[in-house]
Amino acid sequence: MAGRFATLVRRLSVGLGVASAVVAGSVVAIGAVNAANEAAQPAKAESKDPIVIGHYGSLTGAEATFGQSTSEGIRLAIRELNAAGGIDGRMVELKEYDTKGDPKEANLAVTRLVKSDKVVAVLGEVASGLSLAAAPVCQKAGVPMISPSSTNVRVTKVGDMIFRVCFIDPFQGFACAKFASENLKATKAAMLYDQKAPYSVDLAKEFKKAFEKMGGKVVAEQTYSGGDGDFTAQLTNIAASKPDVLFVPGYYTDVGNIALQVRKLGITCPMLGGDGWDSEQLGKTAGKAIEGSFYSNHYAPDQPDEQVKQFISKYQGAYGGKTPDGLAALGYDAANILFDAMKRAKSTDGKKLRDAIAATKDFKAVTGMITIDQNRDAKKSAVIVEMKGDPLGPKFKARIEP
Ligand code: PHE
Repeated sequence: MAGRFATLVRRLSVGLGVASAVVAGSVVAIGAVNAANEAAQPAKAESKDPIVIGHYGSLTGAEATFGQSTSEGIRLAIRELNAAGGIDGRMVELKEYDTKGDPKEANLAVTRLVKSDKVVAVLGEVASGLSLAAAPVCQKAGVPMISPSSTNVRVTKVGDMIFRVCFIDPFQGFACAKFASENLKATKAAMLYDQKAPYSVDLAKEFKKAFEKMGGKVVAEQTYSGGDGDFTAQLTNIAASKPDVLFVPGYYTDVGNIALQVRKLGITCPMLGGDGWDSEQLGKTAGKAIEGSFYSNHYAPDQPDEQVKQFISKYQGAYGGKTPDGLAALGYDAANILFDAMKRAKSTDGKKLRDAIAATKDFKAVTGMITIDQNRDAKKSAVIVEMKGDPLGPKFKARIEP
């Protein structure tokens, strides 16, 4: 009875805290499974309690589509899992908090997930700076964390509880440099990056290293701070350096504003960026100014790939015909990798779950084949997309292998 009461309290708190975070279908299913199980074998009712996992993401703020898309991908995976019987008959329930794109909020959110909600695993964040701010909480508590999309090398170095299912920035920088050098035939590159975002600073560094190794030269290096409105001084400098390509490894809101000012100042070379550009908002903000520019990403919706086609049609069915971005695909993949590990671990114990995630091998995900390496990272290819078409959006251009 005590167990049942605790379950009820927990479920109520889930409902009250973040009502929208609970996948509607799964709540009904949980009740049904528990009732059936308790009638059959009352002593074991506790073992059929839902398994609670956490997600922290920027559901609001300057990078709101990052958290929202990731959340949609995760929920789709949960819905499918629960409809197929859950993990050994136990449903999976989601607890989710908004980081608002703020490192302090990210740390608070994960502390709450781990300490109050007692989740068995955490998914998130997208932005590397936010993952870096919260990963130590998971590490200390012994709760595995999987970032779907943080690419900065330092994220998984926090400790042996921290994983990711995406490639890392030394590779992303290489992929962008290779595309600039081989496809765009660029020999002179300018860079404009966000000095406050670890993702942006390190990706700029990696691009420069790779591009210069390929014989190119970085002819101008300028910085901004996320949220700035005026880039005239930096862009005036950049224009004077006459680059063949302008590398802007930032997040989409800033990149949209930057693109508008780039064209206003008469800089005509293509812009190039990393996965941080990935949002339907980019085309809406920048319009023509971003047409013909490129960025590297984890997947392209028009990629010729069966796994991708299937995912898109399921996602569109669930979310009113909306085309999933890379974050949605990675959120879906991260959740499925966690479920696969839970099934193999046959336990929700932190260490056992960690070992099972670490043993992930050749998992056929939407964003490619995923094997977790000894650094708890995933080695995968990248795609380069071009912003074009009507509606303006990312179109598959090239695939770069590691
Ligand atoms: N890689 C980015 C970071 O580490 C986050 C990101 C991933 C953004 C994928 C968009 C798409 O901060």
